[in-house]
Formats: sequence, structure tokens, C-alpha cells
Amino acid sequence: AIERTFSMIKPDATRRNLTGAIIKMFEDAGLKVVASRRVHMSLREAEGFYAVHKDRPFFGELTEFMSSGPTVVQVLEGENAIARNREIMGATNPSEAEDGTIRKLYAESIGENSVHGSDAPETAAEEIAYWFAGTDIVG
Ligand code: CMP
Repeated sequence: AIERTFSMIKPDATRRNLTGAIIKMFEDAGLKVVASRRVHMSLREAEGFYAVHKDRPFFGELTEFMSSGPTVVQVLEGENAIARNREIMGATNPSEAEDGTIRKLYAESIGENSVHGSDAPETAAEEIAYWFAGTDIVG
């Protein structure tokens, strides 16, 4: 089925000017960018977005990193977009990511891993709504 997923290009990647290279990988794999915005999120916004991880030992590190520089928040649309996006990203830990994936190519560490993507339909809907109004999404 045609799905939408939430994608974020993280500060380690915007710092290295990899925005275009990463978006090209999504587009080449058949996903379409239907909403896009560059944001330098506040610590509070990062804490809200990642609230599901608030009891994890890496929560402080994660939210400080995510508010340390610009990110690009996007909605990607396509056939099985949620799973497809996760295949293109590769494993969270770049040392476990498959060849040809974004994280294998570009991620610096498990924390500074260049991209985020939703893991399920419910989280995709929540994450899209956190950053975008319905009228921002143009299919
Ligand atoms: P992401 O898909 O953005 O969702 C939560 C993030 O937490 C994850 O990618 C990682 O970047 C980060 N993360 C997971 N495990 C660790 C860890 N052990 N140390 C630091 N960051 C982590």
C-alpha cells in the first residue's frame, strides 16, 4: 500500500552538507518527498519528539545532539514507505548497517547516525503531526 513516513536528516549530516546526497538516495529508491522543512530544534522540542526514550540512559546525549544544529524534517511517500525507508537507512548502529545504506555510508556513530525514520504506522502518524500541519503535505 502507499504509505507516508516521517524522516529526519540529523545535525551530523547537515553539518557535512549531505542533505542532497541523502535525499537522492530516498528518491532513487522510489520514495517521494511530499513535505520538507529545515529546522534548528530547541532542546524542549527534541525532548518532546523523543519522549518515548525519556528513561533511556542516552536521552540527554540524544536530545542535546538533535538540538545542536539544523535538521531537515520530511514526509516521504511511496509503496511500503515505512519499511522501505528503514531499508534505505540501514541499522541504527552503523557498524551493523548493510553496504549501500545511508548509515553505512555516512553515519559517524550510533548516536550521530545521520537519519531518523519512523518504525511503524502509528509512530509515523504521530511524528508527522509533531512537525507538519496537514496543509504542509503536498502529494
Ligand atoms: P533514532 O532512529 O533517531 O531513534 C532514537 C535514537 O537514539 C537512535 O536513532 C540513535 O541515534 C539514538 N541511540 C540509540 N542508542 C543509542 C546509544 N546507545 N547511545 C546514543 N544514542 C543512541
